[in-house]
Amino acid sequence: MQLTINGKTRQIEAEAGTPLLWVIRDELGMTGTKYGCGAAQCGACTVLVDGQPTRSCVTTVETVADQPVTTIEAITDDPVGRRVVAAWVAHQVPQCGYCQSGQVMAATALLKQNPGPGDEDIASAMVNLCRCGTYNAIAAAVRQAARG
Ligand code: FES
Ligand code: FES
Repeated sequence: MQLTINGKTRQIEAEAGTPLLWVIRDELGMTGTKYGCGAAQCGACTVLVDGQPTRSCVTTVETVADQPVTTIEAITDDPVGRRVVAAWVAHQVPQCGYCQSGQVMAATALLKQNPGPGDEDIASAMVNLCRCGTYNAIAAAVRQAARG
């Protein structure tokens, strides 16, 4: 099976039903995407599949074989992703950092679909869980990234 990930086509040995998260982390060695709950609840494993924020812990690799996948490792290749990361740094959003790659992916997807989100748009898009409670800083950083 082949996977197009971060702009490159990779040959995948894993079985078709393997969760995308394990292919990304174990087979491809990209550990920026995190395992949190394994049950589509927390969003730590969020990657973009054809631009959509997708929980890779419950997405089998075969279902995304014909769509481009983007992980945190390549997010600053995208101008919107670069703005998001800069805003995250400016607002010092991360605390422990564990949830943050998923948060950045969700924020980038939001701003690519809606470049000028209001507070309600931000609240409804940024649903990933954060044990450290960085939600206010996340919202502030998304607002800054939207302003450019
Ligand atoms: S690890 Fe995938 S949603 Fe929590
Ligand atoms: S920064 Fe620690 S879980 Fe979000």
